[in-house]
Amino acid sequence: MPDVRIVHTVPELRDALAGVRPGLVPTMGALHAGHQALIRRSAAENGVTVMTLFVNPTQFNDPGDFAKYPRTLEADARAAAAAGADIVWAPAAPEVYPPGFATTVTVAGLTDRWEGASRPGHFAGVATVVTILLNSAQPLRSYFGEKDFQQLQIIRRMHRDLVLPGEIVGFPTVRDTDGLALSSRNARLSSSARAQAPVIHRALNRMTAAARSGEVRCDVLVGEGLAELRTVPDAQVDYLAIVDPDTLEPLGTLARPARSIAAVTLDGVRLLDNMAIQPGSRPWDS
Ligand code: PAJ
Repeated sequence: MPDVRIVHTVPELRDALAGVRPGLVPTMGALHAGHQALIRRSAAENGVTVMTLFVNPTQFNDPGDFAKYPRTLEADARAAAAAGADIVWAPAAPEVYPPGFATTVTVAGLTDRWEGASRPGHFAGVATVVTILLNSAQPLRSYFGEKDFQQLQIIRRMHRDLVLPGEIVGFPTVRDTDGLALSSRNARLSSSARAQAPVIHRALNRMTAAARSGEVRCDVLVGEGLAELRTVPDAQVDYLAIVDPDTLEPLGTLARPARSIAAVTLDGVRLLDNMAIQPGSRPWDS
């Protein structure tokens, strides 16, 4: 396997970096090809790439979920090395949250809605740990997936507001050949639910296509997506909306580039996806 150095503490990380500002790819491990694509991009753009591996307790609102999260350091280090990571930084929880830790980062307006509404405290946990990771590693660039679009926009906003180091790079969602966005949760789907899951991508595609053909009423566009989702009666829609990409406020009319966002539960597994959507040319314009 290509060489990768595993470090645990911040002094070890600083020592391994020897003053070089790296590309940083924060993860919770259980790597799949989506994570590896982020690492590959960082390795192409930076002299040194650090993948962080930390299953962050403060972003789990269900302690059972936290306990069940896969912890596969060796396989993850191999997968990270194969994708071009130089260093895997796997801190222990007391390193990140020493006794007496008392600070939380929240991003008003952005952390409470959509995913935040069904997982109270989740994004405060994400924003706080990402602040700590960026301040500790002082990266030139940090890479995050568009797959978790709300997370990415929260990170962009707090990065700007708190003047955190380096640049935030958003990376397009990596999908399976049938369109399903790669996620560590996909492994929990039964084979029949796995076969049905690409309906989410089809629904978002259908909305984007309807917008391209000139539909600007967001309720009609969302109706198109819901009609597609109804072709799988087992799919429970938590939300499907068209939102402003920066504020994540729902839009009434599609007048500028926006984002469609979806959370759908299949077989007890909550799946997220999103897609760019923008107004297309109306027939009477041409
Ligand atoms: P995790 O779920 O491990 O994801 C790590 C990174 O991989 C995130 O930036 C996520 O958006 C990205 N990612 C996941 N699936 C992807 C896909 N199919 N295509 C492209 N990128 C994908 O997200 C987290 O960890 C945590 O919240 C973290 C940011 C590490 C903070 O704890």
